[in-house]
Amino acid sequence: MCGIFGIVKEKEENLGPILIQAAQRLTYRGYDSVGAATLSRDGTIDLRKDIGRVDDVAARYNFAEMRGQRGITQLRWATFGAPSQVNAQPHIDSDGEVVGAHNGNVVNNVELRQQFIEEGLIVRSENDGETCVHAVERYTKRGYDIIDAIRLAYGDLKGDYAFVIGQASDDKLYAIKKGSGLVVGIGEGFTCLSSDLPSLLPLTRTIIRVQDGEIITLHADHVELRSVKDGQPIEREPETVTESMDAVQKGGYPHFMLKEIHEQPSVARELLHLLEDSGEVETVLEKMKDARHLYLVGCGTSYHACLIGSVYFAQLAGRPAIPVLAPQFVPQYAPAVGHEDVGVFVSQSGETKDVLTALQTAEKRGMTSFGIANVIGSTLTKATSCWLPLCCGYEISVPATKTFTNQVITFLYLAYRMAGRDTRELMQIPDLMEQTIEMVAPQIEAIAPSLNEWNDLYTLGFGTTFPIALEGALKLKEITYAHCEGMLSTEFKHGPLSAVVEDYPLIFVAGPEDVPLIVSGINEVTCRGGRAIAIGEEDARLHANADDVIVIPKSNPYISPLLSVLPLQLLSYHMSVARGYDPDFPRNLSKTLTVD
Ligand code: M6R
Repeated sequence: MCGIFGIVKEKEENLGPILIQAAQRLTYRGYDSVGAATLSRDGTIDLRKDIGRVDDVAARYNFAEMRGQRGITQLRWATFGAPSQVNAQPHIDSDGEVVGAHNGNVVNNVELRQQFIEEGLIVRSENDGETCVHAVERYTKRGYDIIDAIRLAYGDLKGDYAFVIGQASDDKLYAIKKGSGLVVGIGEGFTCLSSDLPSLLPLTRTIIRVQDGEIITLHADHVELRSVKDGQPIEREPETVTESMDAVQKGGYPHFMLKEIHEQPSVARELLHLLEDSGEVETVLEKMKDARHLYLVGCGTSYHACLIGSVYFAQLAGRPAIPVLAPQFVPQYAPAVGHEDVGVFVSQSGETKDVLTALQTAEKRGMTSFGIANVIGSTLTKATSCWLPLCCGYEISVPATKTFTNQVITFLYLAYRMAGRDTRELMQIPDLMEQTIEMVAPQIEAIAPSLNEWNDLYTLGFGTTFPIALEGALKLKEITYAHCEGMLSTEFKHGPLSAVVEDYPLIFVAGPEDVPLIVSGINEVTCRGGRAIAIGEEDARLHANADDVIVIPKSNPYISPLLSVLPLQLLSYHMSVARGYDPDFPRNLSKTLTVD
């Protein structure tokens, strides 16, 4: 998703390197074009932008030489208007005296652009970032000062966004937040802002988290906050961030994804400690037990965690829970929910629009809602009265890995507690994860090249491993660009079996109690020439029937599926790298999806 960064210095200097580095730190969000603008005290604006990678565009347009007293950079992930030079951000106003950029989605972009054209403003692109600039310009042209113009623009711009804007005629930058992330940083002799915290950390540890409906004015030596409603000042003390920078560096690994895969045991350990001491767990459990219906709501990988959570609640605690893809919650369940029902809304970023929309709909119906999120301070954590943190630190790589396993552990822990089972059994999980990574890494590296010859494969599971098969398939298609379908193993014979030809690869994920059923599935494909790769605990039946067995450590039927996702993560990683792709930043994708 798009990312914005802005900085205000006391005097004019070479801002190019700062803007390039800030843009590089935002790349994990996903983007297709990049731009930078500097504003000088003499009233000039230098704007350079194009489609392509940060390093390429910055080199082609020599961002490094850009000077100014203020600077803005933006990474764009296309929604309104194709990826192109003209649609890349930042954008200037009609007279080239104001420059701005946004993150998010202005849903009435098309209507507003038409209005601006009719009003005689010069509209150069189809992009809604430009619409934010003209939305302010239309009011400054009518004589409003910039703050009032931003307040009025806020009334016109529908959707969720954050934008930053600067006028050549003064020495400040202005920004507003409505739905999309925005954090302010205060340093020695400068102030800055960004779509997220990690991109500010190398510059300063003194930050202010901006709330929706707040207007920011960045001066070189201080920051003003105002309410968009009445323009009145808001007092908020800056906070000091103590998190380590290690989290946003690769720490010797070639990619963030591999680092994050290896971090899973340690973040699992941290999460389990936190859950044992958490008062919120009691609140969530109490409400979940008494709920008429319990819904687990998420998207993508987070939805897969909801799916396995619902299997855990049923198998361990006899508590039915309905897993729902967030956008489908609105038409399919929201009309029927009420205050007797409970929803758990799950999102790594805590900013996924589909999840937040489902949450808003649920709350309107009076449903009790909880959050499970990784990003502290995200919209989901603010919008729910009670939420559980995933304790993963930053997950930079677009493919979710450590946040998935910690989501699964959170559900497993809640199910154990609901069932009155001893949670000490779960404390072995981090060690088991370590052993799994060690055991499977060489097996996966050995098998990946032959699987990489295919652009089409299946991952199949049953019961607790069905969601793992879906998650493995999502990882594989997300970063190898091959078609991979995850399915219930028993469904394969109801149609897809016709795809099987000689050596056709199928990965079976076998839970320890489902081996006989998985073995049936394996034989249905191997007798037709298919190649079955099984992931499961050491079991003679798997060795006797599958072509290859990726062995994971022995545990129990609930922990085993959690371990079996690790080889699938590693497989997708190695296949992606062997294909020459960057697994951290797959094409077209974004880490934080703040659009419908
Ligand atoms: O931040 P969220 O957990 O709400 O994100 C939901 C999905 O966009 C996300 O899990 C996506 O499917 C992952 N990139 C897959 O690896």
